[in-house]
Amino acid sequence: VATPDLAGRHIVVSAGGTREPLDPVRYLGNRSSGKQGYALAKAAAARGARVTLIEANTGLPDPAGVDVVRIGTAVQLREAVLKAAGDADAVVMAAAVADFRPAEYATGKIKKSDDGGAPTITLVRNPDILAEISADRALPGQVVVGFAAETDDVLANGRKKLQRKGCDLLVVNEVGERKTFGAEENEAVVLAADGTETPVPYGPKEALAETVWDLVLPRLRPLSG
Ligand code: C5P
Repeated sequence: VATPDLAGRHIVVSAGGTREPLDPVRYLGNRSSGKQGYALAKAAAARGARVTLIEANTGLPDPAGVDVVRIGTAVQLREAVLKAAGDADAVVMAAAVADFRPAEYATGKIKKSDDGGAPTITLVRNPDILAEISADRALPGQVVVGFAAETDDVLANGRKKLQRKGCDLLVVNEVGERKTFGAEENEAVVLAADGTETPVPYGPKEALAETVWDLVLPRLRPLSG
């Protein structure tokens, strides 16, 4: 049985991958399975927290004892995170958020033209939710955690990203073929804004989840009342 060291806390976790619709049948998406975010939500609940899990397109069953909010796009994810973060002690952005979305949504299915040509899709930037909630904390002392999947120069890129995003902790992992996305296991380094770096050996996503909460715990604001 886990120690209830997160009792009295409200924790928000985002999981999965956003989908940005092009037309009623197509979207731009990514390969995130949501498993790491679900492992984080379950672990926090087991440690006594009230957990809001904001889920994007995972198809995973609701974990017991967790409030699940289902969303689809990055813009919807932003709305849900801002709402849930209002009284949160910590927010963990484990979701893979699309950086861009189609500038226009076609209300009818996009058709092939007779001239053999192909349509051009114009993209616009999505809001960076992690940077926004880090810069503008809903509560003083709220702990904000991000994830970064990198394919090369993993640590150097991770350190730059931690600075740029302004979060307290950044979980950096290397992605590539057969690594991380959709897998049951993960290997990572957790970078902290205070300069500490915690390597997490290759292992189950549940183990990485526990390490994240162990690192969040001493950074939480004092429990009120
Ligand atoms: O910049 P990059 O996508 O690598 O950053 C990953 C981290 O930032 C993740 O924690 C992800 O949830 C978050 N993110 C976000 N909004 C975006 C893009 C990423 O919150 N538009």
